[in-house]
Amino acid sequence: MGERKQAVVIGALGVIGRYIVERLLREDGWSVVGVSRRAADAAPRYRHVCVDLLDSRAAAAGLGDLSEATHIFYAAFQPAAGAAAGYAANIAPNRDMLVNAVTAIDAASRALRRVVLVTGTKYYGAHLGPFKTPARESDPRHRPPNYYFDQIDWLTGFQRGKRWDFVELRPQTLCGFAPGTPMSLAPAIAVYAALSKELGLPLRFPGKPGAYTSIYQVTESAHFANAALWAAVEPRCGREAFNITNGDYFRWKNLWPKLAAVFDMPVGEPQAISLTEHMADKEPLWRAMTAKYRLEPHAYGQLVAWPFADYVFGCDWDVMSDTTKSRQFGFHDVVDSEAMFVRLLGRFRQERIVP
Ligand SMILES: NC(=O)c1ccc[n+]([C@@H]2O[C@H](COP(=O)([O-])OP(=O)(O)OC[C@H]3O[C@@H](n4cnc5c(N)ncnc54)[C@H](OP(=O)(O)O)[C@@H]3O)[C@@H](O)[C@H]2O)c1
Repeated sequence: MGERKQAVVIGALGVIGRYIVERLLREDGWSVVGVSRRAADAAPRYRHVCVDLLDSRAAAAGLGDLSEATHIFYAAFQPAAGAAAGYAANIAPNRDMLVNAVTAIDAASRALRRVVLVTGTKYYGAHLGPFKTPARESDPRHRPPNYYFDQIDWLTGFQRGKRWDFVELRPQTLCGFAPGTPMSLAPAIAVYAALSKELGLPLRFPGKPGAYTSIYQVTESAHFANAALWAAVEPRCGREAFNITNGDYFRWKNLWPKLAAVFDMPVGEPQAISLTEHMADKEPLWRAMTAKYRLEPHAYGQLVAWPFADYVFGCDWDVMSDTTKSRQFGFHDVVDSEAMFVRLLGRFRQERIVP
């Protein structure tokens, strides 16, 4: 049996964090401590620490006994009010949570070996408009503000002279099954489709016409978790950054009929709407549908963050990362995005999140 490792997953209940926890617990030799404000049940080799990382004293107290932590997976996140494209400018809380978490664990554990920092394609300005594609890890940053830069710069300075190192992973639009985590694309498509169907409408692409035909990419959460584990233990990954996507690309116009088929719906012509505005008054309808179809009782506001969906469907420019570097360093997994959407959306139906 190999060496024992203890991971601290910061943001353990998010669309990324919960998949990393699950992945590590399937791996021999790992124990996991999950961190978030909400509580979660303990399980074999898993315990959960509830702490508000914005509070540095609470972070020091809550994480101060993690003397055996060998790895930190950092996937906490604080959105801001307004359009999702502006989330990257929400610097202070996103920098402070990282600072408070890593400082506390660094002080607690002499066994710390690596921090895996989750950033994203917004590093390249993918949220702002057309950018150089495919984006490569060596490409320059876009013009700030972007909290990723603050996180990377702080970690780079803090790590200097320590026994541990860090690796940065840049995914794009995570797709997973994490009901109750609203900033996620899969529930947005599932709930939008279900509401459209209930209203007797076809499945219309709700984004900009240019977004329907542009190239897009996503990262399945389970795939990302495999990459995070790889990046945590592969010695050569230290002080490197890697784009992590499914490895393929698609255009919504080709994918849309396949998504409609999952919901047994006809495809309509695209019609650009603001989902944030148009979905705002659909809560009573969703409540009625929850009763009518005996759905799992999730609060409408906790199921989907419509500004996030507007952001994804509003990218009328190509969004492409180059994943050559991760393959050259030894991570060879790929995901068929079309099959992934069919599988994931089907699960939202099977598990009664949507009818
Ligand atoms: N989701 C995507 O599509 C995507 C794509 C590319 C990159 N990323 C990047 O990945 C990173 C993680 O994002 P995500 O989408 O996984 O976020 P998420 O699903 O919203 O999860 C955020 C996690 O952070 C925890 N958290 C938030 N505030 C906290 C606080 N004050 N103290 C302790 N824990 C706190 C949350 O739990 P509690 O609420 O219980 O505290 C939750 O577990 C972000 O930097 C994001 O930009 C995400």
